[in-house]
Amino acid sequence: MPVTLTWTGHATWLIDTGAGTLLVDPFFDECPTSSMRAQDVDCDAILVTHAHFDHLADAVAIAKRTGASVLCNFEIAQWLGRHGVAKTLAMNIGGRADVPGGHAKMEIAHHSSSFADGTYGGNPAGWLLDVGGSRIYLAGDTSVFLDMERIGRPDQSGHGLDVAILPIGDLFTMGPADSLEALRMLKPKVALPSHYDTWPPIAQDATAWAGAVRAAGLADARVLRPGESVVVP
Ligand code: NI
Ligand code: MN
Repeated sequence: MPVTLTWTGHATWLIDTGAGTLLVDPFFDECPTSSMRAQDVDCDAILVTHAHFDHLADAVAIAKRTGASVLCNFEIAQWLGRHGVAKTLAMNIGGRADVPGGHAKMEIAHHSSSFADGTYGGNPAGWLLDVGGSRIYLAGDTSVFLDMERIGRPDQSGHGLDVAILPIGDLFTMGPADSLEALRMLKPKVALPSHYDTWPPIAQDATAWAGAVRAAGLADARVLRPGESVVVP
């Protein structure tokens, strides 16, 4: 069964691996562009890239209601525990864990990570997923960085990235131009934009971005509207 990726808006993704649904960076009810309400989300595991509110806001409510385990850095796991979330898996950069349908590896990201009250939220991260026979990289909030060359390398069986999900909003993360630089290193089959158009400061012309990615021969760039899905080829 092919893996299906659904963008609900901002940096929130639902990934149906065929063996379960992963929810990345739950931000629904306070997200101006979200296609879903937090109470309607069903998932088997929650993956969090960092502690900023636009990636963590609905994690507590969804984890409590669904019983899904939350994979995140050590500091976020402790914070979730203090907020009554029973099932967390504390990780750190370089660690790999089982998820329904495969594995998730926590990768580096160049960003910051604090909770809404300003306290320390551990290191920010990205996720490299091997699920349902597909290899999917979610960069999280980050600038472009040279290790993307390593992240894009094929695995031991020669399987490179099927999908790279990159922020293009600029200002808080890489922007469109640097995302092309990232794709030169990552070499995915499909590129999907994230973390843009939520608020005016990160408005971007994603159609123009996709045209530039395709014109440069870097990937099959697809632009989704919130609530739309793509099946991994
Ligand atoms: Ni952030
Ligand atoms: Mn963010």
